[in-house]
Amino acid sequence: MAETIKVKLRIKRFNPEKDKEPWWGEYDVEMDPTDRVLDALHYVKWHIDGTLTLRRSCGHGICGSDAMRINGVNRLACKVLLRDVAPVVTVEPILGLPVIKDLVVDMEPFMAQYRSVMPYFVNDEPPPPRERLQSPEERAVFDDTTKCILCACCTTSCPSFWARGEYVGPAAIVQAHRFIFDSRDRAAAQRLEILNEPDGIWRCRTVYNCTNACPREIKITEAIAEVKKALLFSRL
Ligand code: SF4
Ligand code: F3S
Ligand code: FES
Repeated sequence: MAETIKVKLRIKRFNPEKDKEPWWGEYDVEMDPTDRVLDALHYVKWHIDGTLTLRRSCGHGICGSDAMRINGVNRLACKVLLRDVAPVVTVEPILGLPVIKDLVVDMEPFMAQYRSVMPYFVNDEPPPPRERLQSPEERAVFDDTTKCILCACCTTSCPSFWARGEYVGPAAIVQAHRFIFDSRDRAAAQRLEILNEPDGIWRCRTVYNCTNACPREIKITEAIAEVKKALLFSRL
């Protein structure tokens, strides 16, 4: 029989309809070492306490919906193997966004910050007969920031965001970077102006938590530095 491991899951629980304060639920499970934290949470939900509430969809690191704080670090639950975090696994909602229930937070403030940086292609010039061409070198400039899945692991691990929720946050800056440095786009100056606001990019103090938390290994702090440099040398 395949070897199993015993894991104690400590999950921060909160049901606003009946709890005054969050509380810690403890659940002992026996799982395969290569099961993920998401599998263990499913086990709890399906076999021990069906009221446990969490958000997930793809199960494979693509949709970005199961960001949570696992042993104090923001991770996607579907990408963390139990053998790497056992025997005691502490699971909490990501910090800085309102908790709706258990591990589910309200993503709307995060999405509002995302929308604020115009995260879409802008070019009103008449399109050429075939396509707007771009060289491989021009594409490479923003390749890294195209990988973002909007999981919020970065923004909710940033002390500047914890201190002030209005800070636009690293995820929105990553999205702005993706378009600011796209040679076909024409709204870079507008995005830079938005990021130059008091709650914009200058609230970043180069802490690097965001880069360490990103499940897509995007070099977020470097991308932020590139946008800061563009702001310093642009003529708005
Ligand atoms: Fe998630 Fe990385 Fe995108 Fe931040 S930059 S939202 S951590 S994928
Ligand atoms: Fe925050 Fe990342 Fe800057 S953690 S302070 S956004 S480098
Ligand atoms: Fe989709 Fe984890 S469930 S990223």
